[in-house]
Amino acid sequence: MIANSSPFIIADRLTIGLPTGRPLVNDISFAIGKERVALVGESGSGKSLTARSLMGLLAPSLSVSAQQLSLAGQDLRHLSPSAWQTLRGGKVAMVMQDPKYALNPSKTIGWQVEEPLILHRSLSRRQRREKVLEMLDAVGLPNPQQLVKRYPNQLSGGMGQRIMLAIALITDPEFLIADEPTSALDHAMRDQVLSLIQELVAQRDMGLLLISHDLQQVAEHCQRVMVMYQGRILDHLPAQDLAHATHPYTQTLWACRPSLATKGKRLPTLDRAALEEYL
Ligand SMILES: Nc1ncnc2c1ncn2[C@@H]1O[C@H](COP(=O)(O)OP(=O)(O)OP(=O)(O)O)[C@@H](O)[C@H]1O
Ligand SMILES: [Mg+2]
Repeated sequence: MIANSSPFIIADRLTIGLPTGRPLVNDISFAIGKERVALVGESGSGKSLTARSLMGLLAPSLSVSAQQLSLAGQDLRHLSPSAWQTLRGGKVAMVMQDPKYALNPSKTIGWQVEEPLILHRSLSRRQRREKVLEMLDAVGLPNPQQLVKRYPNQLSGGMGQRIMLAIALITDPEFLIADEPTSALDHAMRDQVLSLIQELVAQRDMGLLLISHDLQQVAEHCQRVMVMYQGRILDHLPAQDLAHATHPYTQTLWACRPSLATKGKRLPTLDRAALEEYL
């Protein structure tokens, strides 16, 4: 059992591989406390696999090995399905990319926000209903009393993502993993939802692992950044140092971020041959 003072999440030499033995995530190590950490990197670099390994949500065909892999002091390498069930939602929750696929189209919003409470907390029906209304209010959704009776197809993308957040946070987990939580939203909505996540995480004294392609967003909302490339963590730096990163890959990622400053200019491309030296 790990003492309370140790980081909330510890991954030491984590490798996730195909049945053939080819690693998709290759020997990565990190420790995360109650802080806001970003995991960035291009498509296919292994960000979602890393996050899913912390939630016990990897495809059964993939193999996981690590010197240590723990969350809230529990060894994730040897958890039973029922222990995973207790941990997910109870201690750690996840928000996915697109509410369109994550919400159940045939159940009301109220039912879907209440369900984690039935699974994870012993509250009376009345207490649960009250908590659902409070939670919908906390994520900034108007008219919770009306909203609980509605179905997902009656929601906009931004509202759907707020519902996802309500579902994730209603059991008061200690840690939130957000896997590209705003990439299905338009630009104005992205910032609103990210600010909301940041505000709720701070209010509730939670930790956050934010997976994102958007380095500008990460610089604004996170404290630390881990940079992945081809299954490895290449760089690890304070978010405030992103603009003057020393690692060439991080420099390129930062220079490639589309922003007002780069609008209309040609973005630099990645020199993969030069990068091989760093792997
Ligand atoms: N179940 C699986 N079986 C085989 N390969 C997989 C499986 N899941 C993921 N992969 C492969 O592992 C690599 C990493 O996938 P992952 O989903 O972690 O990438 P990612 O960094 O989250 O990318 P994106 O930014 O596109 O979401 C990819 O090449 C992907 O095709
Ligand atoms: Mg992904």
